[in-house]
Amino acid sequence: MPERLSVKGLREAVQDCRGCELYRDATQGVMGDGRRDAALMLLGERPGDVEDQRGEPFVGPAGKMLDDALADVGIDPSDVFRTNVVKHFRWSGTRGKRRIHQSPSRAHVAACGPWLDAELRLVRPSGVVILGGTAGKAVYGASFKVGEARGKLREWPEAFLVERPPDWVLATTHPSAVLRADDRRSAYDDLVADLRIAARRARAG
Ligand code: URA
Repeated sequence: MPERLSVKGLREAVQDCRGCELYRDATQGVMGDGRRDAALMLLGERPGDVEDQRGEPFVGPAGKMLDDALADVGIDPSDVFRTNVVKHFRWSGTRGKRRIHQSPSRAHVAACGPWLDAELRLVRPSGVVILGGTAGKAVYGASFKVGEARGKLREWPEAFLVERPPDWVLATTHPSAVLRADDRRSAYDDLVADLRIAARRARAG
């Protein structure tokens, strides 16, 4: 971990991370990106196929949908900091040219904890929006269910020890789940409704 924190320094340092085995199959480590002074941090699961190749979080189809949803609630997508609980892509096998992603395990999440802690210390966001069940379980534990928890303002859990916890947290569905939903329009509207609560809370300071 670099002594002086910066987005660039963390991005370089994570390339040497050997905290778990995921680095072996991934193209690169993908640290968070965005404004260093962002009031809002968006926390996803792990980089996807596109993110693994480009080295930036949320630059694939899910990220584009997320940006649309942010803009719909009046948040400028360039004002937030996007990251993931796990910084390396995890995949097993291929389907055609596409690599099949796998969710990270609890051991991967635990090994990556210091990176998220460093990002929270660097950005010091007042709010964190958790995207999806895997990120929710990583923060709140195995009993977390995104369907029950979504859209409610809550506190960062004491059990997930970080030096600089945010003032508030809100969980919502993962944008990839919106892309996969049978009724994509209504899933998108539900995502926007949750983000509206976060936007209102963020504006309150
Ligand atoms: N899904 C995630 O959870 N994070 C990304 O960066 C991309 C897709």
